[in-house]
Order: sequence, then C-alpha cells, then structure tokens
Amino acid sequence: MLPLNWFPALEHPGSEEMFLGDGLARFGYLPSPTSAANPHGLPVGFTEDKNAGTWVGLTCAACHTSQINYHGSAIRIDGGSTDADVYAFLSELSKALAETVSDPAKFARFATRVGANEARTKRDLHNELSRFMAYFATFVDASTPTSPWGPARADAFGMIFNRVAAIDLADKPYWAWFQSLESNYQVPDAPVSYPSLWGTPRLDLVQWNAVAENRQPYQRLGRNIGEALGVFARINLRKPATPLLGYPSSVNVANQKIIEETLVHALHSPPWPSLIFGAVDQAKIASGSAIYKKYCSDCHKPLTIEWKNTPDDPTRVIAVKKLPVGDVGTDPSMAVNVACRMADTGTLAGTRQPPVIGLGHKLESRDFVVNLVSNVVVGVEEAGLFDGTIQKLSASHTESPTTAHSHLQLQNIPIPFRTSTVIRDNCLQNLEVYKAGPLWGIWATAPYLHNGSVPNLYQLLLPADQRVKTFSVGSREFDSVNVGFDYTTGTFELDTTIKGNSNSGHEYGTQMTDEERRQLIEYLKTL
Ligand code: HEC
Ligand code: HEC
Repeated sequence: MLPLNWFPALEHPGSEEMFLGDGLARFGYLPSPTSAANPHGLPVGFTEDKNAGTWVGLTCAACHTSQINYHGSAIRIDGGSTDADVYAFLSELSKALAETVSDPAKFARFATRVGANEARTKRDLHNELSRFMAYFATFVDASTPTSPWGPARADAFGMIFNRVAAIDLADKPYWAWFQSLESNYQVPDAPVSYPSLWGTPRLDLVQWNAVAENRQPYQRLGRNIGEALGVFARINLRKPATPLLGYPSSVNVANQKIIEETLVHALHSPPWPSLIFGAVDQAKIASGSAIYKKYCSDCHKPLTIEWKNTPDDPTRVIAVKKLPVGDVGTDPSMAVNVACRMADTGTLAGTRQPPVIGLGHKLESRDFVVNLVSNVVVGVEEAGLFDGTIQKLSASHTESPTTAHSHLQLQNIPIPFRTSTVIRDNCLQNLEVYKAGPLWGIWATAPYLHNGSVPNLYQLLLPADQRVKTFSVGSREFDSVNVGFDYTTGTFELDTTIKGNSNSGHEYGTQMTDEERRQLIEYLKTL
C-alpha cells in the first residue's frame, strides 16, 4: 500500500494531527497497541510487508475482523465482517499524500520524521512521494463511487475490475504504471457487505454471486490473488515471452496460500455469548427450528455435521444454492456488474491462461472483464509456480492440507472463476445469481443481504415494504433483541432508495406472525 516508514510520518490533510494518531479508529478500523511486535501501532490487519522494500499492506484481518460492543463489553470476532469505511480511509490517505507534496511546511515535517535531512535526500524524497502520490490518486479515483459506500461495505469487484482493466492493463506498464485505460473504467456502484470467513473453505463456490470456484487450494488461492490485485498489488501485464511465465507481480503467492490453507481453515463461527447477551430461550428455539425447516432450509442447509477438515472427508464440501437474481429479488447491481461488464483486453488479446488449449479461454480483443481477470489471476499463479516458490513452501508445511497438492503441474491449475458461453442480453447468464450460503454465526454479521441493506434479522423477516428505508450504519453497539447493530446511532446514513442499495426481495416466510419471527430469530442465534 505505502512505504512503511511514510505511514507514521503522515499528517491528517488540513491539520498537523498525525494520520495514524487514533489507530485509524475514525474509519472503523480496530486500533492495536504499540508493542515490540507492532512498533508503529498499526491497526488490526495492517501489516509490514517486505517486498521490494518495506511496505505497509492490508492483510485478510483488516476486512475480516469485527468487534461487537454491548453495554460496556467488547467482543472481538476473528473472521467476522469489518465495519470499516475503506473508501473514506483511502481517499483521506490520498489527500494526505497530495498535501504533503504540495505544502512545503507539511513536507518539511514529513521529511524530518522519515529522516531525510540533507537537501538532496529531501529532493529525492519529494520526487518519490510525488510519483507515488500520482499513482495512489489514480487508484483512489478509480475506486470513487458516485454515492459513498459508507462503513461495512465495499464494491470489491468494482475495485478489482477497475484495477486490472483500467490501471494495470495500461499501455506501458514499466515506466508509466499510473496511466490508465480510461474507456475500461466503470464507477464502482455496487457495494457489498463484508462476508464472514468461518467455514468458507467448505463451500463449493464463494463470493456473493458464487462466481469463484472454491473446491481446490489453487482455486481458493486464485480468489485471494484477485483480492490482492483489487487493492494494492502491483503487476506487470505485458504479454509474457512464453505464456508459461505468467505475469510477475508483487502478490506474495506463497504466503497467501499458507494464510488460506491454515488460518482461514482454523476459523470457527462464534457461539452466541449468553453470558453477555443473556441466554437463548429454549422453548422458542424448538419452535424456531421447525419454522426454519419450513421456510429456510431448502436454500440455507442446516449444518449439523462436524467437519473433520481433511481433504478426504466426504462431508467437507457444501454445495451452495444459486438463485437467479430475478427470483431472489434483491438489488441486482452487484451480480449484473460482474456478469455483463466488458473491456478492451489490450495487450492481452489472444492470450490464454492457463495456456493449455481447451482449458484457458482465449481472450477476444473485447471480452468480459471476468474472463480478463481470470486470465490475469491464473497468470499470477503461474508466475509463482514457475519460480518454484509455491512448491518449496508447500513442501515445507507438512502439517498443512496443501501438502497433497505441492507437486501441482501447470495443467492442473483450475480456472478460478465460473464463466460460460451462455450469453443472454449481452451478459453471462449463469453469473446473474446470488448464493444462499450456510447461516453459521449469522447473528454476528449484520448488516444483512449481499449489499448490507437490512440492519438486523428481524427486519429481514419483514415483508420488504415494511423494512426501514434509511438507517444508520457504523455503530458497534449490539441489539440482542432484533439481532444486528443499533441502527439509530451510527456514523453514516444508508439510503436504500439509491441504486445498489435496494433492500427489496428475499421475501421468504415474511408472512409469518410476529411471534413466529421471534421464535425463528431465537433459533438463528444458535447457528
Ligand atoms: C480490502 C478488504 C478485504 C481484504 C484485505 C480481504 N478481503 Fe476477503 N472479501 C472482501 C469483500 C468485500 C468480499 C466480498 C466480495 C464479493 O463477494 O462481492 C470478500 C470475500 C471473501 C471470501 C468469500 C466469502 C464468501 O462466503 O463468499 C473469502 C473466502 C475471502 N474474502 C477471503 C479472504 C482472504 C483469505 C483474505 C486475505 C488473503 C481476504 N479475504 C482479504 C474484502 C476483503
Ligand atoms: C429460495 C431460497 C431461499 C430461501 C427459502 C431463503 N433464503 Fe435466505 N438467502 C437466499 C439468497 C439467494 C440470499 C442472498 C441474497 C442477497 O444477498 O442478495 C439469502 C440471504 C440470506 C441472509 C443474508 C446473509 C448475509 O450474510 O447477509 C439471511 C440472514 C437469510 N438469507 C436468512 C434466511 C431465512 C431466515 C430464511 C427463512 C425464513 C431464508 N433465508 C430463506 C435464498 C433463500
């Protein structure tokens, strides 16, 4: 993201306060105390990355950790959904960089803090900062929504697609990597709620629109590479001399594989904290369980089986249900943006990744962006395989489930995304779906639906026209009755009448009585 020593040296835009002063709590990140292991006091999920210099980067925990407060107690939830406002953070960081470049007094203080005291080192620093600022501003501009996402949401696919198609694919990647292919750019107007990560390695497909194949380690790795490309990874998208070389990038492919196959596998859904919130009502649970079977379990399969977490465990894979967007009736923007968006593929036109004929899709000069991103993700995996880093790492991690796959050959790299040739109204028809995943730990992951447009479980069980149309997001104070965050005291007003924010649809069992709703909610607390 940023050279590590610059981060604690930056000030707020428009003031002399230190940017990192509040541990980024103002954006909803979780401050972490300064210690020997965390000398700069970086928040949860912000980490040191030694990759061509020392950088600060985001790791999974920045977006997939949450905190729930209740009457003075706080519960930290690993693998939960952050309520941070990533766009507010990025745009303020971009402004802070720009002012440090343009305001001589601000720059002088910055230079002193990073130890540039000589006239020449100051000049070099100013040049380096100006170049970096231009690149960063391009990235932030490309992520600018027309109406703000607010806390707890980000248009992840919008960011990834803009990054790959409009920035990384620029003409002359080496010396002008901050140029962009303007025509491939699209406003990221379909923010999604951050999902929880527990149990996700068991799902056959992931992402809200079930676009990412998830059965095999290299598919899960591909998903994570896509995520890294969407934020800060650098990549060289020149056509490789031979396709086998893939695309060199700054993605730490080997570490990503370890994170996914060890840490993500170890996450568990959090049990309802009875000691803090009060015990669940056993009588209501029994009735709630029957209501769940009647109205919900066709799509959200109940999970009673213990997962042994070994590759040969037959209960391992859970097939998620895919519902056509029109049937579920929720906001279509996210699925439609992914299924329909096209771009000029520039220098990559005519290439396949993996290069094996019959496996890799050959990119047309104008193609679906999801095909382009699939090509790029596989190319990044190949570059990691080609230089042997993945094989060495897998072999040395004998405890991890990756061992069995350590001798993966190129031909075995599976395609990370579901695409197809079935095109309807210029869109990839099979991607116009939302997934109904298991509801484990659902009590802890408000707001609900793919676009976070419903503040609590009680509201989700109401007919759509009775759900609140605007509500406030960003509070961590928990409402243990309706199950979600307090939506009257947040930091951002979410207006569900704006494109991308609709809280229509998902009207399953919404005709039940209020008493039945309460019984079902009691049962949902136990999942
Ligand atoms: C900048 C924030 C951010 C970071 C960092 C991040 N993610 Fe995510 N992640 C998201 C968002 C947003 C989604 C939902 C995207 C969508 O489906 O539209 C998501 C989706 C996922 C999913 C799919 C879940 C499901 O049920 O569909 C998995 C698995 C996942 N992330 C794992 C990871 C891992 C592992 C890492 C670290 C290598 C990581 N993420 C880093 C924001 C982030
Ligand atoms: C016909 C299939 C179907 C039925 C029946 C169904 N759901 Fe869903 N559910 C979905 C789909 C698809 C989504 C994702 C929609 C979206 O996010 O836009 C979803 C999303 C959800 C979510 C939001 C998940 C999250 O992480 O935000 C919850 C909670 C939920 N359903 C609960 C229920 C409950 C409770 C019932 C029974 C009253 C139920 N569902 C019945 C298909 C179904």
